[in-house]
Amino acid sequence: MTPEPAAPADELFSEERSAEVVAESFAGTPDPRLRQVMTSLVRHLHDFVKDVELTEAEWEAAVDFLTRTGQTCTPTRQEFILLSDVLGVSMLVETINHRTGGTATESTVLGPFHMVASPARHLGDDIALDGKGTPCLVSGRVAGPDGEPLAGATVDVWQTNEDGFYDVQQPGIQPEGNLRGIFTTDEDGRFWFRSVVPRFYPIPDDGPVGRLLAATGRHPNRPAHLHFIAEAAGHRSVTTHVFVADSPYLDSDAVFGVKDSLVRETPEVDDPARAAELGLPNPFRTLTFDLSLLPSASDR
Ligand code: BEZ
Ligand code: FE
Repeated sequence: MTPEPAAPADELFSEERSAEVVAESFAGTPDPRLRQVMTSLVRHLHDFVKDVELTEAEWEAAVDFLTRTGQTCTPTRQEFILLSDVLGVSMLVETINHRTGGTATESTVLGPFHMVASPARHLGDDIALDGKGTPCLVSGRVAGPDGEPLAGATVDVWQTNEDGFYDVQQPGIQPEGNLRGIFTTDEDGRFWFRSVVPRFYPIPDDGPVGRLLAATGRHPNRPAHLHFIAEAAGHRSVTTHVFVADSPYLDSDAVFGVKDSLVRETPEVDDPARAAELGLPNPFRTLTFDLSLLPSASDR
């Protein structure tokens, strides 16, 4: 059999034409979106390699880094998502896909510590089962875009304990379900529960991502926050946090999750009668976070 003639020289791989040639190899991808993504990925990746003139040793180090990142993943640890988080990619994807145009509560990263089946709680319950931390009344209202109360909405919340760990990071040390729960709003769309003031904490930094942060002089900390997922029938759900206004690291969150609209003060209340009514020690702190959801019809 006669071998096929080689492509003309100006269609073969060269330093100048590398992106074009490789992108062209994906031209026959049947799924148009996959074709668009792969073509763009190749162009940006080749631009990057040329921009920094990647050495062979650096390429090997990158392959080794990605291999170790994969090897660090377990059923309870997702090092690749953590890598995406510290590179700001998770926040960018989240922000692009949940644009509100300023008309609803802004979203932020989900993070790895959400539990699909969190315990159902009653309004007013205390979620701080380990008895540590500064007592705090968390309350708010879930409403639609015109301020109409969303009764029966669910508010799924989770936060770290005073030592900076989620319950799922410390099985056998923290009580199961510590500092998490799902509340249902009352007829005025309101929710309230007892907890403790959240505190800042480091993301898991004992793996390749932590070593990347250390090598680049970055700290692994997230400012104090309480996670929320609010859901209501007929509305787009929102995955977000409320951040504590006087927390360290508000301006240097390791995963870039802070948005100005999500920061709240935690003023102290000194009112023995109110504290007794709520079942809190006096004085106590308060954290108020109202959420506004868009109707599902405005889904893009
Ligand atoms: C979190 O807030 O729980 C979180 C987010 C991203 C990476 C690690 C933790
Ligand atoms: Fe968190």
